[in-house]
Amino acid sequence: MTTITLIHPDGQVQAIDVGSDESTMQAATRHGITEIVAECGGNAMCATCHVYVDDAWASRLPAMSDDEDALLDGAAAERLPTSRLSCQLKITPDLVGLVLRLPDRQV
Ligand code: FES
Repeated sequence: MTTITLIHPDGQVQAIDVGSDESTMQAATRHGITEIVAECGGNAMCATCHVYVDDAWASRLPAMSDDEDALLDGAAAERLPTSRLSCQLKITPDLVGLVLRLPDRQV
C-alpha cells in the first residue's frame, strides 16, 4: 500500500492509497473519485480513465502500449504529452508519491 496524489480540475489536492495489486484507476474508483469513469473496467477499451501525469513524474513512467496510445487519441478531454490511462498505471516502488491531474471530463 502506498499513497499517490490526485489534483482535481478545481485545484483540490487529494491523497489516496493504492494497493500493491491495484491500478491507479482501481484505487481512484475505490475512493469514489468521480472524475475517473472507467467504463470498461480497466480493459483498455474506453479511455474514460484518462489522467495527466504531473510533469515531474512523466519521464519516470513505463512506456505506453500501442493500444493505450491509440485510445488516448479518443479521450474526451484534450490529450497532452503527459496523458495516460490510469487503468494501465500500477505503482511500482519508484513511483511512490506519483502525482496525477484529473481532466475536467471523461465523456
Ligand atoms: S478503464 Fe477503460 S481504458 Fe481505462
